[in-house]
Formats: sequence, C-alpha cells, structure tokens
Amino acid sequence: RQQERDQIVKGHEFAAKLYHYILNNSAEGKAALDYLRSRGFTDSLIETFQIGYAPPRWDVLAQYLEQRQFSLPLMEKGALIAAKSSGGGYVDKFRNRVMFPIRDARGNVIAFAGRTMGNEQPKYLNSPETSLFRKSRVLYNFHAARAEIKRTSRIVLFEGYADVIKAWSAGVHNGVATMGTALTEDHALMMRRSAEQVVICYDGDEAGQAAAYKNLDILAKAGLDIKVALLPNRLDPDEYIESFGAEKFRRDIIEAAVPTDKFKLIHLRRNFNMQDNEAKLRYVRTAIREVIAHIESPTVREHHLKELANEFSSISSFETMKQETNEIREEQQKKRRSGDNNDFSWNTVMN
Ligand code: CTP
Ligand code: MN
Ligand code: MN
Ligand code: MN
Ligand code: MN
Repeated sequence: RQQERDQIVKGHEFAAKLYHYILNNSAEGKAALDYLRSRGFTDSLIETFQIGYAPPRWDVLAQYLEQRQFSLPLMEKGALIAAKSSGGGYVDKFRNRVMFPIRDARGNVIAFAGRTMGNEQPKYLNSPETSLFRKSRVLYNFHAARAEIKRTSRIVLFEGYADVIKAWSAGVHNGVATMGTALTEDHALMMRRSAEQVVICYDGDEAGQAAAYKNLDILAKAGLDIKVALLPNRLDPDEYIESFGAEKFRRDIIEAAVPTDKFKLIHLRRNFNMQDNEAKLRYVRTAIREVIAHIESPTVREHHLKELANEFSSISSFETMKQETNEIREEQQKKRRSGDNNDFSWNTVMN
C-alpha cells in the first residue's frame, strides 16, 4: 500500500515536471505561456508554483509514463490517466489546460487543477478523489504557506488558486484555498492546528460573499478567531491585486479585514435599499434582531448599537435601539429555554 502511494506520488511529481517543461520549453506551450503572462503570472510565480501546460494531445503523459516504466494501471488508480473505453491503452486526464499541481501537507504532488484558456466548461478541472487526494482534507498551498502561518499564527483563506498565487506575489505567504468544493470541518481543524486567526478573503461578488457568510460557523466552531476581508466592486483578490497593486492589497484588504459581527452587518445591508426610509427602518430592526441581539458581550453589543444609532439617528435613538435589543434577547432566551424543554421531552419519549 505504502509502496503504491509512493508510486502514485512519483507519477504526479513526474507529470508536474513534464507539464512545467512543456509550458516553458515547447512550441505547444507558447499560447499557455502568453495566457499566463497576460494574466500577470510572472516567470518567478510560474516557477514557484510549478505551473505547467497539458497539450491538446490524447496521451502525452501516458506515453511518457510508460516509457519511464511506471505501472499504468497504478497511474490510472491515481487518476493521472484513464483506460481507453475500447481496445487497450490509456489516455491522459488533462488536455489543453494550464496545470496547477496540488500538494498535500507534506509537499507531495497528489492532484492537479487544470484551467481552460477559453470558455470551455468546467473552467477548472480538478483531479477526482483518489486514495491520496481527499478534497475535504486538502488545502491548496498549505505546505508552502506553513512557515508564514506559524510565524503569524494567521492563515488567509481564498476562494481560488489564482488568488492564492497572486497574493503570494503580493507578499501574502500564508494563503490557502479549498479545492473548489465546500469548506469542511476537517479543513477548519487543520487550520486551527496551525493558526489562531483566519482571514476569509473570498471574491467580492455575491457568490463569494455568501460563501464567506456560510463558512463563519464552521470556522468559529473550530475555535478560530475570524476576520473577513472586503473586496470592492465584485473584484476577486487576483483582480484586485492586478488593478491596485500589492501594497494596497495588504493594507486596505488584508489588514483592514473586519470582525465577524461587522461583516454580518455589512453583508445584511446588501438586501436593503438605503435610499428608502422604510428600508432603513427594516434594516435597523433586522440588524438588531439577526446580529446585534446575538452578541454575548454587552460592550460589543453597545459598540455596534452606538454605530447603528449614529448612522440612523433619523430612524431611532440609541436608547430605543438598546431597549429593542434587550427585549429581543429576553424573547430569544425564553425561546431557547422552551426549546431545550422540548428537546428534553423528546428524549424522554424516545428513551
Ligand atoms: N472552481 C472549480 N471548478 C469550476 C469553477 C471554479 O473547481 N468550474 C473552483 C476553483 O478552485 C476556483 C474557485 O472555485 O479557483 C473559484 O472560482 P472562480 O472565482 O470562478 O475562479 P477564479 O479562482 O477567479 O479563477 P480565474 O481567476 O482563473 O478565472
Ligand atoms: Mn522550472
Ligand atoms: Mn468566485
Ligand atoms: Mn474568483
Ligand atoms: Mn479570478
């Protein structure tokens, strides 16, 4: 088994080298290299992340693997190649895609993400799950980021591979990303084992912000202190860095990341038209009910209430907002108590 794993890793390491070589040194790789450069991926970044290119042929990798005497059935098991449906032989998994090697926590290449340079779907093709590649447990760039994560006790969580790489070039060396799948409890615990704080730095679009909101609980449950970075104009970190540069990204986005409560309040605002007085009123009530009333610390509650009262003084006063908050808290506590009782009676019946 261990031997099998070693062979599959060796196959991946070989494939990464081959794709990287093809990108840098072949006529076939020229368009991919131009594509990467047009997106601001420098030679040094291409080197550091061992970015490559899988040419549009059927079995480049399969042939090289055979020539190097790798066991092809084993390489199929590792999802580098696939058996042809008819007749014998193998075909490559990735064709005509820019290749990003994915490493495990020890730095072994265990999978790939291949990006199309055009509009084909999917935009990113990821290796399927194998015995080595469990998406729910792998964080892209974790191995390389480890030193900086330890040093700062902080991890920056991005949505995409390109974001991690661009952030790296902007001097943010503690960035990781999930595999285009949901963030899991395993991911969160893995992060917590090496850092106290996580900065969520997802895309500024609706989907990214919703995903950030959705992931708050799982990260909080793991015991991480959470900050959320806010990107303007629906930009993603990669685009932001290309437009505004490294220093501004670090200062105005990463260092300016806000605490969870603040993020929730900002996130909530998207649903209300702040030009309209009725909507303002609804926002204030919702903010109190959904966010502020849930905050345990009276000081923090008061802080947010003061800000709210300042901004919406035409709607209501601080005193009134505070009263409403307290009423809602009492209501919620009552509900929780009777909820517990319900659970209890259920258990009694079940037992
Ligand atoms: N993703 C994926 N499969 C897709 C689309 C997205 O696995 N078909 C994952 C990838 O990990 C991607 C991340 O989701 O990096 C975020 O998606 P998106 O924001 O659409 O892509 P970007 O990271 O911005 O990619 P790029 O800058 O290359 O367009
Ligand atoms: Mn190289
Ligand atoms: Mn996105
Ligand atoms: Mn994006
Ligand atoms: Mn992007």
